[in-house]
Amino acid sequence: MRLGAGAAALGAAARVTILEPRTLWASLRPAPPSDTVRFGIIGTGVEGCSLLTATLPVPGIECVAAADLYDSRHIAATEALHGKDIETTRDYRRILDRKDIDAVIVATPDHWHRKAVIDVVESGKDVYCEKPMSHSAEDGLAMVEAIQKNKRMCTVGSQRVSSILYAKAKEIWDSGKLGMVDTIMAAWDRNTDSGAWVYPIPPDASEQTIDWKTWLDGAPARPFDLVRFFRWRCYKDYGAGLAGDLFVHLLSGIHFVTGTNMPPQRALSSGGLYHYKDGREFPDLLWTIYDYPHFQLVLRCNHNNDDVGELFGFYGKTGTMTIRGSTLTFKPQAPYAQAEDYSVDGWPKKLRDQYYEDWRKNHPRPEPGHFKVGEDEEVFVPPPGYSDMSDHLANFFNSVRTRKPVTENEVFGHNAALGCHMSNQAYFTQKPAIWDATAKKIVS
Ligand SMILES: NC(=O)c1ccc[n+]([C@@H]2O[C@H](COP(=O)([O-])OP(=O)(O)OC[C@H]3O[C@@H](n4cnc5c(N)ncnc54)[C@H](O)[C@@H]3O)[C@@H](O)[C@H]2O)c1
Repeated sequence: MRLGAGAAALGAAARVTILEPRTLWASLRPAPPSDTVRFGIIGTGVEGCSLLTATLPVPGIECVAAADLYDSRHIAATEALHGKDIETTRDYRRILDRKDIDAVIVATPDHWHRKAVIDVVESGKDVYCEKPMSHSAEDGLAMVEAIQKNKRMCTVGSQRVSSILYAKAKEIWDSGKLGMVDTIMAAWDRNTDSGAWVYPIPPDASEQTIDWKTWLDGAPARPFDLVRFFRWRCYKDYGAGLAGDLFVHLLSGIHFVTGTNMPPQRALSSGGLYHYKDGREFPDLLWTIYDYPHFQLVLRCNHNNDDVGELFGFYGKTGTMTIRGSTLTFKPQAPYAQAEDYSVDGWPKKLRDQYYEDWRKNHPRPEPGHFKVGEDEEVFVPPPGYSDMSDHLANFFNSVRTRKPVTENEVFGHNAALGCHMSNQAYFTQKPAIWDATAKKIVS
């Protein structure tokens, strides 16, 4: 067992290392009020509230305002901040007009990302935009342009990119220990109604407590519909189904580990709607094979069996790296040359014996007792209570202070989101989806 300073012991079977927390927070010491980064948030639903709580341990920052179109979420926001007194409003313009706010988190459903992000950066503030960055390729292009034109800092919210576990995976990838890798596979499977976005509807939700007309902005007009408001991930006008909800995390993690900052070149998808036939417009099983210049990537998400859970596999000629939940494992693959033991069965005994004798002479193995199967397997885990979301937010606020861009900036976020849109386009057209970089469009 190998342990970093300050780390505690795990089980005894494998070589387990508990990863050290980040030092990046050093530049975010508690700041005097005059130097505190003040921020607001647009959208304080499930994710907005999680983000607010995750900001609490980050020093030198302060949430001062929250906007949401559903009144109960003003209360939820203050509760997420452990009762802090902040300005709450339905109208996010009030946040953008405040001169004491430097940065804004956008945690609305996907169809609102484009307008909210562009409004934020045009008001001169930096932006943290939830994943998937865009609701379409066109939205993403417009967002990148506005962020760059206004010279604003942007972080997109796939928090794995700031995780110490994925940083370790990247270190292993960069070391070359895996050898040539032609296949990466990742899955994120669930088997609960909540995992399939069938969220309960709160009893106080009504046309009086929700500004439905504004929520629909940019999407086709519809009568008030609580199912669409709360389960928006199921509908094309507001979300992007499994690809936008889960593939984007897998793509962002894999892009980060492999140092990829481009959209996939081609996507081929299959899947189907097998169980959740509740009027949704996306499948509950989705497979996509993506082509990248140096490897192929296979992603799968489903809502009907969670035995695999969340799993990444990077399959190399000399090693396999997996991330299962929050456990990273590196296992050497064929670390020693092996004698042929299949085709020589068709040789006469004399030739076969000679072959084995020569082989042993040319390939001295470690003496018995000096070789243990699996001795090079290494396991890495984050310390208990570790939050990659707090690290991701700390990275964002660090970039607001230092003006140094983060890895998951608008270009990175746009490329990962393009992978999601390509997956869906390939699924719905039943044709390969190709990113045409010249035309800046996904073509079939
Ligand atoms: N990074 C992650 O792990 C993660 C996890 C969950 C969700 N998300 C992302 O976070 C975003 C929000 O998801 P959610 O589950 O919190 O959705 P949600 O429906 O629970 O909350 C969204 C909130 O945004 C509000 N809103 C919409 N338009 C608005 C506007 N113009 N002004 C003010 N408020 C507005 C709605 O009223 C709603 O309360 C999505 O993009 C989602 O993909 C990310």
